[in-house]
Amino acid sequence: MKIYKLKTEEDASKKASEIIIKTIKNKEDCVLGLATGSTPLKTYQFLIDAYKNKKIDFSKVAAVNLDEYKGLSKDDPNSYSYFMDKHLFNQINIKNTNIPDGMEKDPVKACNTYQKTLNNLGPVDLQILGIGLNGHIGFNEPGTDFNEETHLVSLSKSTISANRRFFLKEEDVPKFAYTMGIKTIMKSKTILLIATGKNKKEILKESLTGPVTTNVPASILQTHENVIVIGDSESLEWYED
Ligand code: F6R
Repeated sequence: MKIYKLKTEEDASKKASEIIIKTIKNKEDCVLGLATGSTPLKTYQFLIDAYKNKKIDFSKVAAVNLDEYKGLSKDDPNSYSYFMDKHLFNQINIKNTNIPDGMEKDPVKACNTYQKTLNNLGPVDLQILGIGLNGHIGFNEPGTDFNEETHLVSLSKSTISANRRFFLKEEDVPKFAYTMGIKTIMKSKTILLIATGKNKKEILKESLTGPVTTNVPASILQTHENVIVIGDSESLEWYED
């Protein structure tokens, strides 16, 4: 495991974007695994800047996203599909993007279809991950079997209440999501975990130095042979270079 402790979130995001750019330069048709959430936003902005400055070409890259809310369409501003279009895809020249179909009502069909897409594209070359405060990666919440592939998740009460602020009415908050499973995440050739800010400090330390347990899904990353962790002085306060 390689750990980069950068000073600020900006520095961490810059480093993350450099690793992504290097991956694409080494293999123009690489498969990138992408995450939503606040963590990768600045990293995506650096990628957009690099594209606008003609330093990188995404035309042959395939992107696969970790997760999507069940019941939200691509046009819903709260869907992860909408998020990716807005914060990255619509601003670069990527053509091949993939995300679970939130509008597919049949979970078996939705998960099988997405898993087939993942299997066909082959192992992800570089998987970007954020980390939840409970150690979740993708929507793989504590207790999820490490052998799960794409599956339906019943969102925890805390996740639902955390999401409440984005919706007009309580009943509009999605209760379910589709997520890439840990088994697929672990098949990625390289995993890039980004965690910044002091609220990620404890869970990052526990995930990287504590026991490997399904109670802390991100702890499985300790067993992957090619993990890069990028943090800032707050999230990695406990780590000495
Ligand atoms: C998002 C995802 C989640 C987030 C995690 C951290 O696609 O898979 O696991 O990475 O919840 O979210 P932020 O970055 O908002 O703290």
